[in-house]
Amino acid sequence: MELSEAIRGRRATRQFAQTPVAKPALLELIDAAIQAPSAINAQPWEFTVIQNRTHLDRIAASSKAYMLTAMEHSAAPQHLRDLLKNPDFDIFYHAPALIVISAKSGDWAVEDAALAAQNLMLAAYAKGLGTCWIGFAQRWLETDEGKRSIELPPGIQPVAPIIVGYPAGPMPPVPRNQPRVRWFD
Ligand SMILES: Cc1cc2nc3c(=O)[nH]c(=O)nc-3n(C[C@H](O)[C@H](O)[C@H](O)COP(=O)(O)O)c2cc1C
Repeated sequence: MELSEAIRGRRATRQFAQTPVAKPALLELIDAAIQAPSAINAQPWEFTVIQNRTHLDRIAASSKAYMLTAMEHSAAPQHLRDLLKNPDFDIFYHAPALIVISAKSGDWAVEDAALAAQNLMLAAYAKGLGTCWIGFAQRWLETDEGKRSIELPPGIQPVAPIIVGYPAGPMPPVPRNQPRVRWFD
């Protein structure tokens, strides 16, 4: 697939076929992720792959509860609170797999992991897979309990929880605003 097609065609996927994603395909995504640049070539990333439904549901439930409490003291939009209060809302959209990209804590951990995340999402799209970064899971995964739930060793911080699966259908385009550009000619 042309790079431009992947960049423009990739969409946050929120409806999945229940077809599992085979391990070699997930490993290919991880291989694409680790081709990302990283500050001083630290390559600080680690990957956790979760396909067990009970485990996914546990993370989703804990993340929802955590986010709802956190939102009590924030200016989060009401529709997000309503969504999280809905017992039928699965923050992982019933995706068959979750890959959490974590990184050794350091000055550039978030940047490095985010670059790996974008590589992973583009590579997934090129293989016919759908992905979505799930920020809803991020804050709880950052807690001690969250880190323990995915057995992250000390000093490793979770950055990008990304669901992966085969899309249930074509994804509509999501228009982009005009870029705000300042030129100094
Ligand atoms: C850091 C980050 C966190 C996100 N968190 C969520 C989330 O919790 N739930 C969700 O449905 N989408 C989430 N998204 C997906 C965005 O909503 C989506 O990328 C955006 O609407 C643009 O759509 P597109 O990816 O199809 O271009 C997140 C995206 C990013 C980059």
